Amino acid sequence: YHHLLMNEKTVIHERFLPKQGSLQEMPGPKTLSNLVEFFWKDGFGRIHEIQVQFSQNNYGKIFKSHFGPQFVVSIADRDMVAQVLRAEGRTPQRANMESWQEYRDLRGRATGLISAEGEQWLKMRSVLRQKILKPKDVAVFSEGVNEVITDLIKRIHTLRSQEEDGETVTNVNNLFFKYSMEGVATILYESRLGCLENNIPEKTVEYIEALELMFSMFKTTMYAGAIPKWLRPFIPKPWREFCRSWDGLFKFSQIHVDNKIKDIQSQLDQGEEVKGGLLTYLLLSKELTVEEIYANMTEMLLAGVDTTSFTLSWATYLLAKHPEVQQSVYEEIVNNLGKDQVPTSDDVPKLPMIRGLLKETLRLFPVLPGNGRVTQEDLVVGGYLIPKGVSSLCHYATSYEEENFPMANDFRPERWLRKDNMDRVDNFGSIPFGYGIRSCIGKRIAELEIHLALIQVEKAFPSIPTLCIHLQESFKRFGSD
Ligand code: HEM
Repeated sequence: YHHLLMNEKTVIHERFLPKQGSLQEMPGPKTLSNLVEFFWKDGFGRIHEIQVQFSQNNYGKIFKSHFGPQFVVSIADRDMVAQVLRAEGRTPQRANMESWQEYRDLRGRATGLISAEGEQWLKMRSVLRQKILKPKDVAVFSEGVNEVITDLIKRIHTLRSQEEDGETVTNVNNLFFKYSMEGVATILYESRLGCLENNIPEKTVEYIEALELMFSMFKTTMYAGAIPKWLRPFIPKPWREFCRSWDGLFKFSQIHVDNKIKDIQSQLDQGEEVKGGLLTYLLLSKELTVEEIYANMTEMLLAGVDTTSFTLSWATYLLAKHPEVQQSVYEEIVNNLGKDQVPTSDDVPKLPMIRGLLKETLRLFPVLPGNGRVTQEDLVVGGYLIPKGVSSLCHYATSYEEENFPMANDFRPERWLRKDNMDRVDNFGSIPFGYGIRSCIGKRIAELEIHLALIQVEKAFPSIPTLCIHLQESFKRFGSD
């Protein structure tokens, strides 16, 4: 046992040395009470609260639980999370993707980056990372994103003018949802969808419905994965709805990819030089099959909409609640950029408060409160020898640890301005985009869309409280404020 502790890969801090060493003695909820917590008391909708409750009040920073046959070790400590993620091999495995895989097998579809595993995943990741993972790769999308932001601002003016008081935007998350979808589609499909128009095209409406179904089915889809197959004949709805929403999402991506194929073909037929962005590159380079392109476009669009829109909603909500912060953000923009300049990604480094605002928003409201990994080897974590298997990393809980973030409950974007350990990719207290080779591939795209939109919204509406945002409905999913 001590030999393991001394092993270079598994060196751990003394404070984690266990009172008891065996996995059997690791604390955790009883199987039955855990099932009641998740399936009866809506635990899938309160994952963030359960993390905090279990780690701070009940069991400590490392605890075990059973979901039916599945054994899970949950980790709610910055250094232990770091240890697990740093021990990852070349193809880290995401946990609980079986239902996604099953749908794809059923329909003869390929897996995309989120659902693929092993060498298949590595191949796709290697292709996509070259195009969208570095800030300079996504800088070229500034112009397209700015066009979408112009439409967003117009839309806000329209919505306000339709209100009695001329100021209120009643469902701001719906607005940002459409902005995020339009923004990410501009980048992925190289075409506009019309989400921010007064009359949204029919195909786009259908797609928004499929996406909304997928998101509103969020918990159900978790059940779809968690409910054993033999129970499906008795509880058929979750699986049926899960398949229905995937059908809608794949169908929409396929339409856009097929349109691009036709465009390219007609340009080639006319002897024109074919130029374009990500999708054009993927189709021309043939590094991925067309089925793989369908799957990746589908999964990236799915991953890139509500993540970005909820973050934007929370950021504006926090600004509205903290006028003093809003004032300093506004002054920074006006002083460092001027009032009339349309910002591009090159301007963002001149605006540290905007960057701090995004990081602080994601610390307080990380869209994904936790993440799962199937560890590939046995590890000694927190003094316990944990056999390879499912680990759940509790990012929400570590984000609210005083030890990691003094005055953790307070909204303080300026905490990210300090150039010390705080603002580093390996600040494992808050890693809203994950860490390492399996981290979010859309991180730079999301940052671009969010930074540029916040700058422009702030410039256009320097006093967000008078934008008067009603968020209650949108945020029901996150529990109360
Ligand atoms: C604020 C916005 C976003 C947040 C907070 C976010 C967060 C995350 C997180 C936590 C993961 C899991 C990482 C891991 O397992 O270590 C992830 C994966 C992923 N995200 Fe994002 N994401 C955002 C926006 C986007 C956008 C805009 C796109 C697409 C353009 C995207 C595409 C993906 C994909 C494809 C994966 C799977 C990567 C892989 O397994 O290789 N995300 N994201």
